[in-house]
Amino acid sequence: MHNGTTLTQFIIEEQRHIANATGDFTALLNDLVTAIKVISNAVNKGALIGVMGALDSQNVQGETQKKLDVITNEIMIRTNEWAGHLAGMASEEMDEVYAIPNKYPLGKYLLVFDPLDGSSNVDINISVGTIFSILRAPVGNRAASMEDFLQPGVKQVCAGYALYGSSTMLVLTTGHGVNGFTLDREVGEFILTHPDMKIPADTKEFAINASNQRFWEPPVQRYVEECLQGKEGPRGRDFNMRWVASMVAEVHRILTRGGIFMYPRDTKDPAKPGKLRLLYEANPMSFIVEQAGGVSSTGYERILDMQPEGLHQRVPVILGSKNEVEVVLGYHREG
Ligand code: AHG
Ligand code: MN
Ligand code: MN
Repeated sequence: MHNGTTLTQFIIEEQRHIANATGDFTALLNDLVTAIKVISNAVNKGALIGVMGALDSQNVQGETQKKLDVITNEIMIRTNEWAGHLAGMASEEMDEVYAIPNKYPLGKYLLVFDPLDGSSNVDINISVGTIFSILRAPVGNRAASMEDFLQPGVKQVCAGYALYGSSTMLVLTTGHGVNGFTLDREVGEFILTHPDMKIPADTKEFAINASNQRFWEPPVQRYVEECLQGKEGPRGRDFNMRWVASMVAEVHRILTRGGIFMYPRDTKDPAKPGKLRLLYEANPMSFIVEQAGGVSSTGYERILDMQPEGLHQRVPVILGSKNEVEVVLGYHREG
């Protein structure tokens, strides 16, 4: 039996250190945690409750939606819209900003999320996740506009992800380090199991979808080529490689044992300067990675400093162990 710190206790104790805290943020986080527990349950039950498989619909980005993409999006909305903490929501699965219905009060925060990350993995029982980012609404208690969401990542109040893996975990930062909690299913509580997570500065493990190799730019070509040369190459050591195709799972591995993850700029489709989305994938993950001592960049600039131009804007992402990311950034500087 555990007798550890619950997530609720952890959040309330953190709130005590903040002068003038109203408890609003704590309450918002509580609703978010409820949504994550419901999603965890749906993902876990899988085929037993008929949630596997694809729909005929596509999202705004032209991707075929899985049943669970839509179900998890709905869970996030229904659980977070009613309590009066939000001025609006935005999601991978919705073209426009989601306006809080008139029957509910408005609040001072904005919630942005990827309800199901890595959804191509859901039918094959490989880890998926939920990613979220909380921003302050520029003007509180007023319905948020799309422009209100276009804040650089440094402005995030909180970022986190849930990983539905062999256990369900919630990893989160409010700008004072990164803490990881594991769901005790029987008790129904997240328990602090990974306090103050830190990414080792050095690594011998890289993650990249090598099927895109012919589209990579020269700095990434050079970096991966040198990793593959191992002991005999300029790096002087052998590397290992992983690609889960769930960003949540990759970032969690990197937080646990180090590594570098790249979905770099490529020439595959000039309209898409990367695959991952800035507001609900790159920004929250970059906040977490930096808070854990890692580095996150497009190759050319710090992701958290970017001024977003659209809700579904895509960016190149290179993140992870500090010294390893610095090697790749050095190659970008050399051109
Ligand atoms: P999503 O399922 O939310 O659309 O995100 C999938 C993302 C990310 O999690 C992962 O790193 C990447 O897409 C995988 O891309 P490939 O299919 O190119 O491997
Ligand atoms: Mn995603
Ligand atoms: Mn998704």
